[in-house]
Amino acid sequence: MVALTVYLAIAVALCVAAYFKFLFRKRRENEPPIPTGHWFWGNGEEFSKNAVKFLHSTQKKIGDIFTIRLFNQHMTVILDPHSYEKFVKERNFDFDKIQKQVNHNVFSFELVNARKMLKEAGKTVRGPYLNKGMAQFSNYLNETFTEVTQSSTGEHTDEWKTAGLRSFNSQTLFASLFYTIFGKGDASDARFKPLSVYKNFDTFHKYFNFLWLGMPVKLFPKAVKALEGLCNQPTSAELLQRDDLSEYLRFSTNFMLEHNQTEQDIIGHNLVYLHVNYNTFRLAFWSLYKLLENREALEGLRKEIDEVVRCKRAEMDDDDEEIVFSMEEIDSLKVLDSVVNETLRVSSGVFVVRSVLEDTEFQMENGQNFTVRKGDKVAMYPPAMHKDPEIFENPDEYKYDRFVDAKFYKYGKEVKNPVMAFGALCPGKKYAIVQSKWFLLSSMYSFDMELCDGESTQPDINYYGHEILPPTKEVQIRYKLRQNIEKLSFL
Ligand SMILES: *[C@@H]1O[C@H](CO)[C@@H](O)[C@H](O)[C@H]1NC(C)=O
Ligand SMILES: *[C@@H]1O[C@H](CO)[C@@H](O)[C@H](O)[C@H]1NC(C)=O
Ligand SMILES: *[C@@H]1O[C@H](CO)[C@@H](O)[C@H](O)[C@H]1NC(C)=O
Ligand SMILES: *[C@@H]1O[C@H](CO)[C@@H](O)[C@H](O)[C@H]1NC(C)=O
Repeated sequence: MVALTVYLAIAVALCVAAYFKFLFRKRRENEPPIPTGHWFWGNGEEFSKNAVKFLHSTQKKIGDIFTIRLFNQHMTVILDPHSYEKFVKERNFDFDKIQKQVNHNVFSFELVNARKMLKEAGKTVRGPYLNKGMAQFSNYLNETFTEVTQSSTGEHTDEWKTAGLRSFNSQTLFASLFYTIFGKGDASDARFKPLSVYKNFDTFHKYFNFLWLGMPVKLFPKAVKALEGLCNQPTSAELLQRDDLSEYLRFSTNFMLEHNQTEQDIIGHNLVYLHVNYNTFRLAFWSLYKLLENREALEGLRKEIDEVVRCKRAEMDDDDEEIVFSMEEIDSLKVLDSVVNETLRVSSGVFVVRSVLEDTEFQMENGQNFTVRKGDKVAMYPPAMHKDPEIFENPDEYKYDRFVDAKFYKYGKEVKNPVMAFGALCPGKKYAIVQSKWFLLSSMYSFDMELCDGESTQPDINYYGHEILPPTKEVQIRYKLRQNIEKLSFL
């Protein structure tokens, strides 16, 4: 009896000690305020239920910076959009650790000399490389557009066809992205084809948040199976032999080989790159879906596109067969730009997280100073800013022309980055945006398209932390090729 009491007392004491060591926190001088939360879970439950709502209500109560606790992880959240640059530039806020965590926990590899590799490889998705990649991408898109309008017997058809919107996008956009990255290779090789990769990725992504937080993949048999499919790739030597392999992959593969990394490491890295590109696929879904849902938006964008095509046609010589666009011309389309930004605003789930390397005096843009504690995480959560009614009037409404010649303000001061959909460090941001714009432009130009009756969906907030949220469910569309269209090409 005595022994039991002693054991119990020890157990209680240990729990209390653990609680004070890992969970409880006393706010030190000059640290950001701490919102009240559950003694055990912290703010985890409210946060995972509806992060935007939780952060907005906390912001109202205690200000633009505060430290929340997600079970045993303390995280300082900064919600002032004007402090974004300072946040990104702070050297003690480190991204390397986070990136290692994702690479290691999700894709089971480690990148040797990661900083150098990412910096150098980043160059291959900009400038002249970007143009080369876009030219390939637009050709693949033309091919896949042709494929999805063929009847089952392979003939061209002008009839309406019905398909799921994600499925349509996977056969067109995703396949084109995939071939642009990996090249086409040998058609008889059944491994590693866009549709099977798409399906496996789709399954695998369901577990992404659990995996990167460190749960072993073995707990999720479906994820294991999908990952096996994804790892069934051509060898690096086979890929390097492809003439049409992207410059990014050529560079990164050679870099990794020079650093004696294994084939499995290279495969893991290829998957990370594909994972990043998957955001373009998700963005395309929301761009099209929102247009199909809002007749006025669809007509507004189509008007801009038809007009620019009409002007281009008028300038063409008789023997020109393609309508050619330059990057500048794409960028100058204001409605298209607005549609993409507005889509990013409503569908982004990105969480910009860094590890705090040292106790850091962080000065907010308004001059207030706070100490952010070593070992914590620090984060900005763009979706909360994207839904801030002070910055965006009626933030829950989709307005396709919201960004046309518009400026946005918070505390009476212009917000420099009103849409922060891709992490600050994403080197391929421009590439992803241009690809999305091109996909929208060509599908609006090439197809008549509508949602089938009664179809609707919304972003799935269970995936918070993903750059672009997937839809809660697939929707059916009807589409057919428009008459008298020419091929669109990228200069
Ligand atoms: C890779 O391995 C080769 C041969 O084992 C060695 O000479 C070279 O120094 C290694 N390179 C790196 C970057 O570790
Ligand atoms: C914040 O810190 C900076 C640099 O340490 C200092 O110059 C500034 O006066 C401080 N501001 C406030 C409001 O304490
Ligand atoms: C749309 O977003 C991009 C960044 O992705 C930005 O450069 C551009 O200025 C934004 N457009 C408007 C009109 O705000
Ligand atoms: C694809 O390109 C061909 C010319 O190579 C053109 O005739 C066709 O209309 C294009 N298809 C689409 C859907 O853009």
